[in-house]
Amino acid sequence: MSTKVVIGAQWGDEGKGKTIDILAGRADVVVRTSGGNNAGHTLMVDGVTYKLHVMPSGILYPDTVNIIGCGVVIDPKVLLEEIDGFESKGISTKNLKIDARAHVIMPYHIELDGLSEAARGKGDIGTTKKGIGPCYTDKAERSGIRMCDLIDAEIFPEKVRENLKIKNKMIELVYGGTPLDPEKVIEEYTAYADRLRPYVCDTVPLLHKAMDEDKEVLFEGAQGILLDIDLGTYPYVTSSHPISGGVCVGSGVGPKHIDECIGILKGYTTRVGNGPFPTELNDETGEQIRQKGFEFGTTTGRPRRTGWFDAVIAKYAVRTSSLTSVVFNKIDPLGGLDKIKICVAYNKNGEITTDFPPTLTELAQCEPVYEEMDGWNEDISDIKEFDKLPLAAQKYILRVEELIGCKISSIGVGPGRDQNIER
Ligand code: GDP
Ligand code: IMO
Ligand code: MG
Repeated sequence: MSTKVVIGAQWGDEGKGKTIDILAGRADVVVRTSGGNNAGHTLMVDGVTYKLHVMPSGILYPDTVNIIGCGVVIDPKVLLEEIDGFESKGISTKNLKIDARAHVIMPYHIELDGLSEAARGKGDIGTTKKGIGPCYTDKAERSGIRMCDLIDAEIFPEKVRENLKIKNKMIELVYGGTPLDPEKVIEEYTAYADRLRPYVCDTVPLLHKAMDEDKEVLFEGAQGILLDIDLGTYPYVTSSHPISGGVCVGSGVGPKHIDECIGILKGYTTRVGNGPFPTELNDETGEQIRQKGFEFGTTTGRPRRTGWFDAVIAKYAVRTSSLTSVVFNKIDPLGGLDKIKICVAYNKNGEITTDFPPTLTELAQCEPVYEEMDGWNEDISDIKEFDKLPLAAQKYILRVEELIGCKISSIGVGPGRDQNIER
């Protein structure tokens, strides 16, 4: 048996989808464990692009079981759109399994996400407005609606009516929004329930049976470690646990079942939404990286903020997610830059540190300490062996590996399934 966790080791969008699609070729089971359709995972196979939001990234392999675990929050409408999208392309979703415990994103969650962001004004988080925060809030508050409730024709209407008594007051009286009609919500979501019912089950025994039978299991993380609600740049975070530990609570396995933790990094840093970003480049170089890396949100289309690679963040990821190896994606967009900088440490009021600080106040006192390296001009997108890379690219990768203290096992040189250098 082998179980591998794949997580984002920066602020998300590191190329997790691409890496999971590659690794899923050898996996029997792929499990999404946290987040919802705030995620956007892109797969590019034979020139066709697939953008997945809730669907696990093993879906292109007909025999792979794809599980949506209990830690995921599900917008039924979005999931059905994804199911229909794949089925219409002749890609079967018969092996999709949705855990009965997973929480449902309801229309009032989406409404409240937008209203609360607007109320925060300039201090907004920059959420995806997909209802993620309000859904996880209800889960923690224990008023959430789960997939098992959605598919229960008696329980679901009651829960919607009960919840909307309070949610409508919040929408109307706190935020000045328009209340929702419970009966319309019930009608719309009952139709979604009817279609999703065949996929809903208890995925915990299924997963454990697979592990008992020595199957290959791949846990697909979403977001990135700095968006973790506890270990990220709070409050500019999401509402779940993108660190590797989140995989356990989001699927129902204990840490002893995890063999490998693979962190996905990219050759530079990006962030969508607001919050601190020490190595951010608000200049032509940042724009060049954005254009070459096509750094625009998969979910919201927003331009991603770009900056130099930050080894302090990557080292924090190695520690907080017990990474056993790293996939270093998106090296190719750095091509054409004369010089490339790496943030090797922070200067915090004169003290040099490689520890990522716990508070935004301390982070604001940190200035990146840069090391400058030579760039390269060659097109590297078809290279398959490390030794064939331009020397400057090799040096850059090896220096990053040294700084983060974790083996770089694979390097991404393009979005395609075969655009990788294995080491
Ligand atoms: P995820 O959220 O971590 O799955 O990443 P996204 O899919 O949101 O964003 C990563 C983007 O980079 C996608 O458009 C991928 O197709 C693309 N990508 C992944 N790896 C590479 C790579 O090595 N080089 C290039 N140029 N693009 C890549
Ligand atoms: P993948 O899986 C990048 C960010 C949002 C915002 C913050 C909170 O594709 O890497 P939320 O809607 O979750 O309440 O927004 O988190 N965010 C992501 N940024 N990639 C993601 O997912 C993200 N999911 C959420 O932009 O800053
Ligand atoms: Mg993404």
